[in-house]
Amino acid sequence: MMKHTTKSCIHLQRSIYLAPDEVRACCQRFFVDGVMKGDVVLIKLDGPGKISYEEVLSKKQTLLSRINSDRGDDTPCSGCPHLVTQEWPPLEEESLGTLSIENHSLCNMKCSYCSERYYGGVEPQYELTALLDGVERVGDDLHIAWGGGEPTARKDFDRLFRGINRKFSPNSQIIFTNALKYSPVIQQALDRGEAAITTSIDAGTESTFQKVRGSKGMDKVLRHLQKYASKRPDRVTIKYIFTAENYSLDEVEPFVENLQAHELLACNFLISADFTSETVDQQVVLSVIQLFFLLYQKKSYFVSFDDHVYYRVREIGAEIALLFEQNGLSREQIALYENARDQLSRAQQGHIVLWGTGEFSTYLLRSSKAIQRQKITLSHVVDGAPEKWGTAFMGYRVESPEAIDYESDYVVVASSNYYGEIVHRLLSEGLSIERIIPNFIL
Ligand SMILES: C[S@@+](CC[C@H](N)C(=O)[O-])C[C@H]1O[C@@H](n2cnc3c(N)ncnc32)[C@H](O)[C@@H]1O
Ligand code: SF4
Ligand code: SF4
Repeated sequence: MMKHTTKSCIHLQRSIYLAPDEVRACCQRFFVDGVMKGDVVLIKLDGPGKISYEEVLSKKQTLLSRINSDRGDDTPCSGCPHLVTQEWPPLEEESLGTLSIENHSLCNMKCSYCSERYYGGVEPQYELTALLDGVERVGDDLHIAWGGGEPTARKDFDRLFRGINRKFSPNSQIIFTNALKYSPVIQQALDRGEAAITTSIDAGTESTFQKVRGSKGMDKVLRHLQKYASKRPDRVTIKYIFTAENYSLDEVEPFVENLQAHELLACNFLISADFTSETVDQQVVLSVIQLFFLLYQKKSYFVSFDDHVYYRVREIGAEIALLFEQNGLSREQIALYENARDQLSRAQQGHIVLWGTGEFSTYLLRSSKAIQRQKITLSHVVDGAPEKWGTAFMGYRVESPEAIDYESDYVVVASSNYYGEIVHRLLSEGLSIERIIPNFIL
């Protein structure tokens, strides 16, 4: 394979993001002089038209030539932290690695935190299959993400899903769906372990569900999720996006009861907050932690926070116990929190393994006072990706997860997206839950 030392990024080389009327090179955002950039558009249509894959590659090539020109052109990518100078293969030798399909904004809900961009009702402006017919080189690691709009809101979803799976056989695939409509093709892909889904519920009562989701049907969504999760709960992630309408315990407690009633406690959970609101209020953070421990009490251990929420939980840090007492947290929850702190103290004798070497781990290590003050030292840093083994990460040598001693080590899982998957793996391989320290405690 011919390689050249050029400036590029993994998205320009190997990804496409399909929106209703445009094709983008990435979904990354960054700031230059206070101005937000990113979401780089390659082709935009003014109305219904055609887009070929050849045209997409040609637009990428033009952008890459400008990025690498001696004139120092200002491009949509100038200032992006993802641009790297290294030996990149020419585009025609690259294989597709990420395909994001958000080619319409039709939706059967109208969530209070969402926007016209996603539920605006724009039909696809170009034929998806015609564009994808031109894709000749697909990587073994192809990842497909289905979003929208609501993927299942279009009648052609089942046909598209089958056709694209037949053509590409992706290595991994995630469908973001509100689950108001049940899809047998999604069920089949979940049962075969060929896909994962993420669905928000965001309420414990029907009336709040209607306020937050702009639609009736909480019970229907729960019943659909129960079916989806029946064989492979590890493939289903349930989100709770905290908003001003749904953060009280009167919502959070019935939410957990509903999960139990619909046998959903073995799923993964992602606790999130409306990313359009700049701050997450302290009361909301308390409810977030309460939800974490309510789930923990029910032996639901696959619970992670999105970045936005996680930063706030870390900020509150040492005050958590005090705030809990002042806010009447139950004795059992305080006991669980104290138990997690005790786990950490017991682990301080050099038996803590950190799993994960991405941005999340970097943030975790930099923001951990215990690590900064050298009260805690890590015995190993491990990662599931073989290509990272032997590389350096923040002063540690990255090792395979086989370095974990299940009898004496404690593990901190430093990942948001793969938290549930990693904890499922550790528990199924015999690590006791007592040896997994919740990452916000570190
Ligand atoms: C725009 S939706 C489209 C897919 C599908 N309709 C759904 O709701 O899953 C994609 C994802 O964005 C999330 N999302 C949308 N607006 C958000 C916001 N303001 N804050 C946090 N997450 C948001 C949704 O929860 C969903 O997981
Ligand atoms: S903005 Fe950054 S991530 Fe997006 S295509 Fe350009 S270099 Fe890549
Ligand atoms: S279901 Fe998804 S696309 Fe529809 S309004 Fe809610 S978040 Fe937006």
